[in-house]
Amino acid sequence: MSSKFQALDMAEHQIADLDEQLLRRQLRTTESPCDTKARVNQRELKAFCSNDYLGLANHPELVTALAEGAKLYGVGSGASHLISGHSIAHDLLEKKLAACESKHIPNARALFFSTGYLANMNAITGLARLAQQGEVSIYSAKLNHASLIDGVRLASAQTKAKVSLFDHQNLDSLEEALKQDTHLLKLIVVDGVFSMDGDIAPVEKLLRIAEQYDALLMVDDAHGFGVLGEHGHGILEQTDVHSERVIYVGTLGKAAGVSGAFICAAAPFIEWLIQKGRPYIYSTATPPAIAHTLLKSLDLIEGNEGIARRKQLNQLIQVWNEEMTFSSWGKVSSLTPIQPVILGSNANALAAAKLLDDAGYWIPAIRPPTVPVGSSRLRITFSANHRVDDLRELIKTLQVIEQEIKNNS
Ligand SMILES: Cc1ncc(COP(=O)(O)O)c(C=O)c1O
Repeated sequence: MSSKFQALDMAEHQIADLDEQLLRRQLRTTESPCDTKARVNQRELKAFCSNDYLGLANHPELVTALAEGAKLYGVGSGASHLISGHSIAHDLLEKKLAACESKHIPNARALFFSTGYLANMNAITGLARLAQQGEVSIYSAKLNHASLIDGVRLASAQTKAKVSLFDHQNLDSLEEALKQDTHLLKLIVVDGVFSMDGDIAPVEKLLRIAEQYDALLMVDDAHGFGVLGEHGHGILEQTDVHSERVIYVGTLGKAAGVSGAFICAAAPFIEWLIQKGRPYIYSTATPPAIAHTLLKSLDLIEGNEGIARRKQLNQLIQVWNEEMTFSSWGKVSSLTPIQPVILGSNANALAAAKLLDDAGYWIPAIRPPTVPVGSSRLRITFSANHRVDDLRELIKTLQVIEQEIKNNS
């Protein structure tokens, strides 16, 4: 007897549709730690695709710290933070994270999460509940990360918040809309560094607007924390803004090389998010050994090693911006380790990724819905463990592949 049923049929059809539109994503399994060289299917590839910007994901001191953390605290937290899962390692980490942003957010307090996705969901849905149903208005940048989009959608479903999208490059429409806005609570939500374009949000201007129209400004600095600012404290340090209106989110699985994320804000906001943030309340705390490892990661980020690693990254960014030229593909102006190459169609992006793989590189094609339709791309990212010569070799390879695709089209 056939075990086929309607939902299974639907799944197969949907997947076939994705295949047809060249939108099916493929899992690749690595056989080595995250670094600039990756073993995949027993082949060594030069990886320019992780978010391990400082090259800390396989740092020996962090590997030791994780083992030490497991010895001190075991491997599981056992419960959510508000039951019994909140350890001294979490507490120390939160205090250190708050200190990172305290120059820019007066009365700062931090709250640690297992992922950036959860931190964003918690921040947006929790903040939206500060006001009554129908009294909230959220302004979200059009190119925001999916976790912000989903947080905004959920907040809107839960609180009937009015949602408006704005262009982060041109804030006129945001300002116009805020002028007319009579909602009690207004929240502007923006990526600090846009994850698929690498450009940096105009935080100073956004804060000026937030102050003028009595709004909160939430900045998701997933790709800025560790990378921007002299001590790696992120976009607030780089732009030197100061305000209790800023709700800052940093992630710890990218430049920090480990896992997790945090919200940093003025203490009453954090206390409220502990009381009412459903992802915080109803989720098991991250293993304390991870928090212990992150304390070491923060030492590295803030210290001389972090400074040297950011210097190396900036050198790579400069070489790319000066030496990488394309005849038909598009570059985006970016001063961060995220450097997209825009190819347009899914077919071209997939063809380029395949040719790169043949040449020994790992740079996947990024397609909709991660990026807007017609802007499929290669998302090239740098790590402080890349050498300038590695980058120059990649530049040459990309130029050859661009020509090859042009000749074949
Ligand atoms: C801008 C941005 N925010 C949040 C996240 C989610 O962070 P995490 O991977 O820790 O869930 C990501 C992940 O890629 C991101 O790019």
